[in-house]
Amino acid sequence: METKKELRKRILSIRNNLDKEEVSLNSKIIMDKLRNLNEYSNAETVFIYMDFNNEVITRDLIEEMLKEKKHVIVPYTDTINVKLIPTEIFDINQDLGKCSFGYYEPKKDIIKQVETEKFDLIVVPGVAFDRSLNRLGFGKGYYDRILSLRRNDCKAIAVAHDFQVLNEIPAEEHDVKMDMIITEKNIYTN
Ligand SMILES: Nc1ncnc2c1ncn2[C@@H]1O[C@H](COP(=O)(O)OP(=O)(O)OP(=O)(O)O)[C@@H](O)[C@H]1O
Ligand SMILES: [Mg+2]
Repeated sequence: METKKELRKRILSIRNNLDKEEVSLNSKIIMDKLRNLNEYSNAETVFIYMDFNNEVITRDLIEEMLKEKKHVIVPYTDTINVKLIPTEIFDINQDLGKCSFGYYEPKKDIIKQVETEKFDLIVVPGVAFDRSLNRLGFGKGYYDRILSLRRNDCKAIAVAHDFQVLNEIPAEEHDVKMDMIITEKNIYTN
């Protein structure tokens, strides 16, 4: 089996080369599937990433959730303490700024940590997944840490392009499994 590092490199190089139309089309299909789930409609507080570099696009869903008055919580990446600081946003244009790595995150002056126990749903990004619902991220354990603190009725639903879901990926003791993975072609669940 490939190592985690080899797998990240291989899958990211494919994802970085997808064309924008494909990313946008897949994202629409995936987000429609997510929207139709009870886990989504019943969720009042949703922790969701801001998409970056051909990840499944979350921006449109975030705008919709804000209109529907769901509580939208977005990660601020505290690279010094290697942890995510979940922060509520109210306006996608006002409350976010581009960080030095190029992705959008809550502006410094609005950062206020929301307790992980408040989340009803977590929409999880990732680099690679497998059919047993294992997940591989960027390699710092940010999501493993925060997912392990969630309420036991809070679902972790990953969204990804179907090519990112492999038969088997390496998983360690600390790796947290997803409850569901949604792609443009499939829904993987147990
Ligand atoms: N719950 C945890 N508490 C402390 N350290 C952790 C925890 N989960 C993961 N780590 C550490 O984080 C490091 C990276 O983990 P891993 O390779 O699984 O990252 P990843 O899942 O790809 O990244 P990410 O979650 O940021 O997308 C590991 O060395 C691991 O020890
Ligand atoms: Mg991990």
